[in-house]
Amino acid sequence: MSRLVAVSNRVCIPGYSIAPGGLAVGVLSALRQLGGMWFGWSGNHRDDAGVEPETIDKEGIRFATIDLPSARFEPFYNGFCNATLWPLHHYFPGAFRYDASEFEAYMAVNRAFANALAPLIQDGDTVWVHDYHLIPLGSLLRQLGVRARIGHFLHIPYPNIAVLRILPVYAELVRDLCQYDLVGFQTEEDLEGFSSAVKGVFRDEASIGSDRIELAGRRIGIGAFPIGVDVDVIARQAGAAAREDEQVRRLVAGLLGRKLLLGVDRLDYSKGLVERFASYRTLLESSPELLGKVSYIQIAPLSRINVAAYAEIRDALERAAGHTNGQYADTDWTPVRYLNKDFPHATLSGFLRMANVGVVTPVRDGMNLVAKEFVAAQDPEDPGALVLSSMAGSARELTDALLVNPYDRRAVALALRQALAMPLAERRMRHEAMMKVLRVNSISRWYKSFMSRLAEE
Ligand code: G6P
Repeated sequence: MSRLVAVSNRVCIPGYSIAPGGLAVGVLSALRQLGGMWFGWSGNHRDDAGVEPETIDKEGIRFATIDLPSARFEPFYNGFCNATLWPLHHYFPGAFRYDASEFEAYMAVNRAFANALAPLIQDGDTVWVHDYHLIPLGSLLRQLGVRARIGHFLHIPYPNIAVLRILPVYAELVRDLCQYDLVGFQTEEDLEGFSSAVKGVFRDEASIGSDRIELAGRRIGIGAFPIGVDVDVIARQAGAAAREDEQVRRLVAGLLGRKLLLGVDRLDYSKGLVERFASYRTLLESSPELLGKVSYIQIAPLSRINVAAYAEIRDALERAAGHTNGQYADTDWTPVRYLNKDFPHATLSGFLRMANVGVVTPVRDGMNLVAKEFVAAQDPEDPGALVLSSMAGSARELTDALLVNPYDRRAVALALRQALAMPLAERRMRHEAMMKVLRVNSISRWYKSFMSRLAEE
């Protein structure tokens, strides 16, 4: 079988580095099963970059990482990746900016990746590139003579051409994606967005099918490959953490028997935290019988702190939490507990298991694995209820959650109330239905179906 070479900006080396987000969990899981190499950024800066990658072997996986020069990294990561592409792909034109020098840095970092990676690729390898940081990488590898099959998976949404067009260099990036043998997305909606972009750029030159694009005599595979979770591992982890983890014990002790509403998100404006805080406030305003009877804990580790929109959201949330607590807290009750702290994955799954209500209400999200992990972490005998935004990719699969529009405060407050009061029989029925879906659309199905499609292209 062909060796898998996964490539992403962040790399997660077990025992060395923990990378946030679903990408790291999914790629690690694929490599643990299939073996191979994971190539990416080391997390360090070095000004004389252009250096040899450093390699380390762990759990049957070769990790190869490069340092990036700080002068390039800042406009690449805080600029084009997270102040241009991220807001664009999440339909946030208000947070979007474009700066040609940041795009140059983006291309330069992609060239640095290509130059360091190309010599490591062996005949017969399959290269799988991940996410928006590395869209031009496939095309750059081809220019260096790499002939391996190369696929790309986008973990974030793909917008419709009507939104994409605000990026002056959108056509270049669409052309770059068309250099891959296979381009995968989280949902059918993202796939439609990409098809609209290809149509907008190539017009009649491209013939676009449901799983293939024909362009200038070439075939490019396209498809939706929704990422999943390892249900059994999470269930086991969550059960063990609920019994043994000191942090979980402290969380439960702090509740004093109150029902727990829990949110776990990177601190990002796409996660809908401002709207969620407002909805919780509406819940308290409209349900005086809940005062003193519920606790909302929001865990939100800081992310991308040097991007202005992230600093702004942080301020807004601190104000919102302070406001609600100022108005409703009592000597023995804090309505909102808002923590910018990170916890190990196993502890988080224990927290999720203890929650009566999982609150996952992003205003836009490619997939959102917290929703899936919440379901997998529950005690099947007495599961919690999930309130999920219909703007998350996972809402396409978790149709037995209470689906809400995160902008509709009153509707979210109602769903939270319904979740808190949901009878055991209904909770079990919904949980069982969602577990079935998670078992079918598992993490192994994600990487196996992507890899086998790529082998066919
Ligand atoms: C999302 C992205 C990933 C990214 C992660 C964490 O899940 O799709 O590519 O790695 O967020 O963001 P960060 O900027 O810390 O890498």
